[in-house]
Amino acid sequence: MRILATGGAGYVGSAMVRLLVSRGFEVTVYDNLSKGFRAAVPADCLIEGDLAEGDKLRRVLKEHRIEVVAHFAGSITVGESMVNPRHYYRNNIGNSLVLLEAMQVSQVEKIIFSSTATVYAPVSQGVLTEESPLGPANPYAVSKYTIERMIEDFAAANGWSYVLLRYFNACGASSDGRYGEAHDPETHLIPQVLQAALGQREKISIFGADYDTPDGTCIRDYVHVDDLAEAHVLALKAVEAGKSYTYNVGTGTGNSVLEVIRAAEEVVGGKIPTEITGRRPGDTSRLVAGSERIKREWGWQPKYQTLTEIIETAWRWHREHPNGYQEKN
Ligand SMILES: NC(=O)c1ccc[n+]([C@@H]2O[C@H](COP(=O)([O-])OP(=O)(O)OC[C@H]3O[C@@H](n4cnc5c(N)ncnc54)[C@H](O)[C@@H]3O)[C@@H](O)[C@H]2O)c1
Repeated sequence: MRILATGGAGYVGSAMVRLLVSRGFEVTVYDNLSKGFRAAVPADCLIEGDLAEGDKLRRVLKEHRIEVVAHFAGSITVGESMVNPRHYYRNNIGNSLVLLEAMQVSQVEKIIFSSTATVYAPVSQGVLTEESPLGPANPYAVSKYTIERMIEDFAAANGWSYVLLRYFNACGASSDGRYGEAHDPETHLIPQVLQAALGQREKISIFGADYDTPDGTCIRDYVHVDDLAEAHVLALKAVEAGKSYTYNVGTGTGNSVLEVIRAAEEVVGGKIPTEITGRRPGDTSRLVAGSERIKREWGWQPKYQTLTEIIETAWRWHREHPNGYQEKN
């Protein structure tokens, strides 16, 4: 199967690309390198291009005889989307429309989309299943929700098949420590905590300790990036068979900000300085996955089950690559 990975040089996309290449799939990465890294993917896979360039996208789909698109490209930060919604509607919704149009013209009829747990309406108890009410609470989430709808509508009108994978919090690094998370600015908790452990940041800001959770800090479901990559392999098999699915992908375990910090302190063997600040606009108290459907129907199982195991992989990456991907783009 010939696959195009938009945003495939980014954190999650590159984990899938490396896994697929190692399993003999033919993968082309299409990435503008605004946030991704050349060094994260095999050099011969990468085409530098922007989703907004419809002509170029069509050419790539045709020349590489693409059969499935795995759509990772986009902007990903909730807080940034609150202050600059225009960018999120342009880069996520507008540019996904360019991609879907290019697929339609090129008769590419299968797509796997990197969606998010933030499409669900905020809850303060229990897990989110695929049946939970939707209710995106910030512009980033609205943009992802809208792309889901667009994909469903293009699929219904054109007889496409699709998989919507709603990731919870992607984290961790490759087990050999060679590839990991290097967002700039880094807004994700685990890399921030490890940067503090390395002395690269003074302290960790805890955005709110007055949420309706046992210790007052936000609860998230941390799922290893390689487990997300494995979910994509299963998704490829499913779309190849011409079927459509929507699945949560998470571990089903919720951990609070304070629990993550404590687990990281154990892994690094030292204290991590913190300060409690006000809540961050757009945050919700609790996002924990009910992932029974993908486990039951596809047999997906997260290999990394505990925070400690996940943080150990991330710690190795951060320790050995304190400046992320050294090779600049
Ligand atoms: N990281 C998470 O915890 C998480 C959770 C839920 C969903 N997701 C979704 O997964 C996807 C990947 O997330 P990530 O953490 O790997 O982010 P990332 O920023 O590391 O990767 C996104 C990639 O898309 C590329 N890109 C952005 N705009 C582009 C454009 N217009 N044209 C071409 N390339 C473009 C960037 O250069 C980058 O390589 C995103 O769609 C995100 O919404 C991520």
